[in-house]
Amino acid sequence: QSRNNRQQTSKEKQLEQFTVSNDGKPMTTNQGVPVSEDEHSLKAGVRGPTLMEDFHFREKMTHFDHERIPERIVHARGFGAHGYFQVYESMKAYTKAQFLQDPEQTTPVFVRFSTVAGSRGSADTVRDVRGFAVKFYTEAGNYDLVGNNMPVFFIQDAMKFPDLVHAVKPEPHNEIPQAQSAHDTFWDFVSNNTESAHMVMWKMSDRSLPRSFRMMEGFGVHTFRFVNDEGRAHFVKFHWKPVLGMHAHVWDEVQKLAGKDPDYHRRDLWDAIESGNYPEYELGVQLIPEEDEFTFDFDILDPTKLWPEEIVPVRIIGKLTLNRNTDNFFAETEQIAFHPGHVVPGIDFTNDPLLQGRLFSYTDTQLSRLGGPNFHEIPINRPVAPVHNNQRDGMHRMTINPGQVSYHKNGLAGNSPSPVPEEEGGYAHYTEKVDGRKIRERSDSFKDHYSQASMFWNSMSEVEKEHIVSAFQFELGKVKSKDIRQRVVDMFANVDKELASRISEGIGTVSPGGQGAASALSSPALSMMNTVKSPRS
Ligand code: HEM
Repeated sequence: QSRNNRQQTSKEKQLEQFTVSNDGKPMTTNQGVPVSEDEHSLKAGVRGPTLMEDFHFREKMTHFDHERIPERIVHARGFGAHGYFQVYESMKAYTKAQFLQDPEQTTPVFVRFSTVAGSRGSADTVRDVRGFAVKFYTEAGNYDLVGNNMPVFFIQDAMKFPDLVHAVKPEPHNEIPQAQSAHDTFWDFVSNNTESAHMVMWKMSDRSLPRSFRMMEGFGVHTFRFVNDEGRAHFVKFHWKPVLGMHAHVWDEVQKLAGKDPDYHRRDLWDAIESGNYPEYELGVQLIPEEDEFTFDFDILDPTKLWPEEIVPVRIIGKLTLNRNTDNFFAETEQIAFHPGHVVPGIDFTNDPLLQGRLFSYTDTQLSRLGGPNFHEIPINRPVAPVHNNQRDGMHRMTINPGQVSYHKNGLAGNSPSPVPEEEGGYAHYTEKVDGRKIRERSDSFKDHYSQASMFWNSMSEVEKEHIVSAFQFELGKVKSKDIRQRVVDMFANVDKELASRISEGIGTVSPGGQGAASALSSPALSMMNTVKSPRS
């Protein structure tokens, strides 16, 4: 249905109040003063200097000078669209989340897909993880499912995230390479942080080269908690399954596309939506009752592990449809602020130490990216649920809050105990029992770094295995330090000996347990490179 002949969602109605069209309207300054001339500055004489009093020139230039905001520290390049979500059947038995109760109800959403490492202007088809972030504008407040297109992550503890990103991003002395993992710092980090093995396998696989955002899975990665209205909890992992199925490019295609059409993925999504070919994704959940927490041979809180679907089946519970492109990229896609800590009653956190750290990081970064504490008032970030509290003031405050009283527990606001009473049935954190010493170390159950990486390798077809080996050879082949290359090969021998010796063929390393390196430039993957640096050490 086109935008004109379907019912507006609650979010669209809200956004409309902020939408200002210039079409055919007389030009004014930002102060509403009519403008008579927009091409020539005010000068002293036809060949004279520009005059300071030209307020129109000053305003136009000043606004332009401040048009850019910092790009996201990660996931800088992204593309978004509007849509809606509908649950297939009530999930009442598991969660009281308001938007998961009624199959008749539609919930407006905004989705932003992204690459992770490159800057805002980098190419779409690079080998990288993809972000898959969904904001549900529910009647009980905003819920954000801020996921990726891979089900696991590189590290287990948020403390390492700044290190990971410093290693993944272009190197600090020369800002090279843009949006690739083919460099020394990335592989140095990997070889010193063996918990990354599983995620690196996914990253070297075809999952890193999606054919389209429409043909990509999404994962919440962390273990969250569903809580029902009786207070009973289940551990939950979230999955998005594209209705079109999953499709990948091959390496040669993505390299060409990066040159010929760096906007390939955003163009594909935009065109599909414009032509009414709406992308759809089904929401799946894996559920584990609280009492089964310790019945698996991996720790269900470890974000480098997935829950094998043969053991914990994915239950499909609803569908997301993207049916409207943005009106303005900056106002919507760039200014949207996702946060895994935006939860609603019925959804709660777990003690996954990666998740716990994320809960701090997002608002913190957005305070500087979006200029102060009121970015929740930016139209795309506003909940459709009403917002009332005693927070006041701050940079760029839009709301005018009348009245004398702006504090809780007061005797001045008439009969009401507070101008903003707390709500019964409001968000209550799950009362999990926690009892332990303050320590930094992690449980032994997080120390198996290889089993699931091996499982991943063993589940691949021969063609997929070839792609993985070629990817390792290409990315690692660009690493200058032979020492790092060797460490990585040795590390992946723990995943699979054959994998390691196949990687080692052609990148000048010693096959683990094997005899010396094959000739340095013999592999087909390396012959695709335009430059092969000679090893530095
Ligand atoms: C974006 C931090 C792990 C998915 C971001 C941003 C930060 C951040 C600071 C930029 C936010 C903004 O400017 O609005 C972290 C930290 C992590 C972590 C500290 C680990 C400790 C993850 C994981 C996932 C993920 C495990 C996937 C499950 C995303 C996505 C975005 C993002 C999709 C882009 C959101 C958007 O489209 O605006 N992250 N992240 N991150 N992160 Fe994470």
